[in-house]
Amino acid sequence: MTKRQQKRKETRRRIGADVATLNRPVAASARVRAGKVFAPSDVPPEIQRPPYARAKGVADPTFAPGSFPARMRAAGRAAAEVLQIVGAAVAPGVTTEALDALAFDTYIALGGYPSTLHYKGYRKTICTSVNEIICHGIPDDRQLIDGDIVNCDVTIYLDGVHGDTSATFAVGTMSDDRAQLITVTRQCLWRGIRAVRPGLPINEIGKAIQQHAESNGFSVVRTFVGHGISDVFHCAPSVPHYFDRDATDIMMPGDTFTIEPMINAGSWEVGKIWRDGWTAPTADLSDSAQFEHTLLVTNDGCEVLTLGRDETPDYG
Ligand code: MF3
Ligand code: CO
Ligand code: CO
Repeated sequence: MTKRQQKRKETRRRIGADVATLNRPVAASARVRAGKVFAPSDVPPEIQRPPYARAKGVADPTFAPGSFPARMRAAGRAAAEVLQIVGAAVAPGVTTEALDALAFDTYIALGGYPSTLHYKGYRKTICTSVNEIICHGIPDDRQLIDGDIVNCDVTIYLDGVHGDTSATFAVGTMSDDRAQLITVTRQCLWRGIRAVRPGLPINEIGKAIQQHAESNGFSVVRTFVGHGISDVFHCAPSVPHYFDRDATDIMMPGDTFTIEPMINAGSWEVGKIWRDGWTAPTADLSDSAQFEHTLLVTNDGCEVLTLGRDETPDYG
């Protein structure tokens, strides 16, 4: 380990672990602000990188043999494992940087590359979206506060394919309103999953999600959608989480895509993206939650590739 790496490791330990001493009282209602973002660590050279993160002139890596579904299953399982570990570390006083550092180490331990690192200029290994942040929150030195909700979005590149999954976690004890938002958002994901069937148009998914969200008094974000995923991180089809009459792509066995509804307590509209170019708050600063799975369409429905170890569906 170089001196620089060692110093960075120490900083990380400090901001992640000294929870009790670092705890300063912050109003639970304060809006989320940008914090200090730390430079990414180096990914070991033996980890195979996606094309956008490869140095010029480096030969394409060779991947272990295996069918596309088999590799997607392995990437999905690994993504679920990282999410489980990151989610278990969520607690008051923990910084989102500490969650990112934990994710980084876990991706590498599993032999995978953190798909978001150097993707379109993004420089961290997960997204952490707190309270009114809809998605693409950048891990920084902000400590999670009792009562916060935080979505952790994990993506791994393993054996030449990506697995993508996210969940929203409670930090300590949370309000009934926030608990309800999380419960309904998770149900929205599962209702979307239940609507996956070969031969049907992809807008069946958004139809089911929008119906459930709105009947519970919540709204569905339209700007960000689910996506095809394979050896490419984001590809066709686009998977809206509201009913889009033009989303008529027909689902076919073997297709792999994500469903990742972002559900708001207030208006569905996205506010101004932060100056970091990524962080997307709600327009009215109302709370937002999100859950995501990567799916494989089968002959009679779908397989949830990123299913958690103890996870069971909840359709509400
Ligand atoms: N994981 C996100 C998704 O669900 C994408 C994050 S891209 C990033 O599609 F660059 F913002 F990290
Ligand atoms: Co996704
Ligand atoms: Co994701």
